Formats: sequence, C-alpha cells, structure tokens
Amino acid sequence: MAPGDPILGLTEKYLADPRREKVNLGVGIYVDEQGKVPVLDAVRQVEQALARDNLPRSYLPIDGLPAYNRATQTLLFGEGAPILEAGRVATAQTIGGSGALRVGADLLKQVLGANAKLAISNPSWGNHHVVFRTAGFQLLDYRYYDDASHGLDFAGMLADLGKLEPGTVVLLHACCHNPTGVDLDAAQWAQVVALLKDRGLLPFVDMAYQGFDKNAAADATAVRLLADSGIPAFVVANSYSKSFSLYGERVGALSFVGTDRDEAARLLSRIKTTIRANYSSPATHGGKLVAGVLESAELRALWEQELGAMRDRIHAMRAAFVDKLAALGAPDFGFINKQAGMFSYSGLSKAQVDRLRDEFAIYALSSGRICVAALNTGNIDYVTKAVAAVCR
Ligand code: LMR
Repeated sequence: MAPGDPILGLTEKYLADPRREKVNLGVGIYVDEQGKVPVLDAVRQVEQALARDNLPRSYLPIDGLPAYNRATQTLLFGEGAPILEAGRVATAQTIGGSGALRVGADLLKQVLGANAKLAISNPSWGNHHVVFRTAGFQLLDYRYYDDASHGLDFAGMLADLGKLEPGTVVLLHACCHNPTGVDLDAAQWAQVVALLKDRGLLPFVDMAYQGFDKNAAADATAVRLLADSGIPAFVVANSYSKSFSLYGERVGALSFVGTDRDEAARLLSRIKTTIRANYSSPATHGGKLVAGVLESAELRALWEQELGAMRDRIHAMRAAFVDKLAALGAPDFGFINKQAGMFSYSGLSKAQVDRLRDEFAIYALSSGRICVAALNTGNIDYVTKAVAAVCR
C-alpha cells in the first residue's frame, strides 16, 4: 500500500468521519457562509448559455482553447503587456495547475537533462516535491518561513537563492503562499527578481490563488516584474480552481516565456508534444467556462466582484479567528491577520492537530496549516473554542 496523500487523503478521512460537528480545515477549498463550495454567478451565466447551445464535444487542440489561452495571458501579464506584444509567451490550457506543473517539469527535465535541479521554498505545498521529484529533478530547499515571527525569512531566502548554481529552476509562489500564507511585498519581489536575473536562475512561478490577496492584477506582481525584467526565460503555472471556484473542472494553464516569437513557437511545439504524451489534450467544459467569463467585459467585472467577495469573507474570518481566540485567553494569533490567501501556518503542533481531529472532529494538516477559507460564522465559535482548548 502506498501512503495516503497528506492533503487529499485527509479529506477521505474527514468524509468518513460520522461526527456531525466535523470541520475540514485541511484541503484548500473556499466555502461560503453556508459551508458550500460556491458556483459563481458569472460562471453560471456562461454555463447556462453553453447548455442552451448544446454544442458537440469534439477534442480540443492539444494546447487547449485558443480563447482560454489568450485570456490567460492577459490575466497573467496585463492587457497590452510588451511581453505579449512581442509574442514571447507560449501558453497551453492544462488539467489544473497541477497538470501545468507536471507538463512544465517534464519539459524542463527534457531540456536540462541529468543536471535538472529545482529549489523550493521551505516549506512548500507538499505536491511540489512529489511532482518535480517524479519528473526526475534533484530538489533543493531555500529558506522562507521564520517560525519565531510567523513571517518571512527574507534575508535567509536571498542568501540561499544567491548560492544556487546558474540554471537551477527556482519555484516561487506568486501570492498567498501555500502552506504559510506569508508573501513577499512588491519591493521584496523586485529584489528577488534582480537576484534571479543576476545569478542566471530559471524562475518557475506557481500562481494558484490569483485574486485571493489583493486583486487579480496586484496578485500578479511577481509575474509582471519578471516580464519586465529582461530575464530571457521563465515559466508560469496558473490555476482557476480557486479563483473561479471550479476545482473539479481542472482548469489551469502553463506559460513558457522565451526570448522572442521564434523561441516561443518552439516552446509551444515542445509543450504540445509533452501534453500529447501525457493526457493528449485538455477538457472542454471548464475551459469554456473560464474563457466565456474572461472574454466578456460584463462577466469579467462580475467575476472580479465575486472574487472580491470571497477575499473579503476570508479577511473577515481571519480577523474573527484572531479576536475570538484572544477573547478566550488563548496565546496571541495576531499574525494570522498579516498572512494572505486561503492558508495560515497556525503554529499548532502535530500533537495539537491530532487532538483537534480526535477530540473535536476538526481536520488540519499535521504541519499546522489550516484553511481559513473553510471558516464561517456557523463553525468559527466551535473551531476557536477547540483551538483554545488544545492550546491550554
Ligand atoms: C491544497 O493545498 O489544499 C490544494 O492546493 C489542494 C491540493 O490539491 O492539495
């Protein structure tokens, strides 16, 4: 038997738990005040139009829907971005953000050969290690999280990145770092981008939570700084699972940036052979939903508004979590208000996480990562009382 997955395996345990009061703070899924995964109104409108049209379901091209890829590029780099005008970006629709990571990893491994190395933040999303190790990469760590301040170890990060061999691939979380919720600010990103350029490192950005911190444009700061930096090549994997609440539709994209239009064409040809050898071509439905929203000015505005409402609810839950724990006399959790996105590294120990599950049916990752987007006014009192109890 292979061991269960630390995140999705936990959901299996949660689903099998008969206790009615159970709460899943494990997996990164946003739920609304009613505890449901929302169907966004912008998405629903496109879906209803698709149902009316009832179009045939032929195969998509290997690299997916052209409209989806165009809209993805605009969302990543901004309307009229010079990098897009220059034709430097090759984008393909993928099976979720994970599919983008794996296709990107496989392609880079083909190019880099036996010397393929990837530097990952410590800590990072557990599946980053699995995907890149399985693709044949040697994995290295760079410092990122500072336990004492529950914040960023920026000096450690710069020192470790500065020691990497040129050509090393550096995995970066664009925003809403998973699992810590600790991000770089724009000035820090500018410093990191300069260092990456200086050292000849190859940035690979994972952007799974665009719009969950500030807004879609501001959360793409790292990607846009890279685009303007003159770095000759970098990669972006992005996901619409969270931002469109389309988890099971598996909607993501892979973008490889090259030096010019010719190189982008060659990169796209390699992306396509890599996808064809893996899952052949992506799925139609989710791609059409995302493209349909992003292509319509009206629906796009509605989506940004709905995304903002999800973001605001998460911010409100962070604040309520901190305030309620303070009122219960628990140790200070104020740092949770400074973290961004769906997750927080709560500082809870494995033993405390075990107690939350065993005594209270509250599921969190053994690292102490909690999904604050799963809190709502219906469960927050129960959760904070349980957290206070295990902190005693
Ligand atoms: C998470 O970190 O919980 C999400 O990205 C879902 C997953 O696939 O692990």
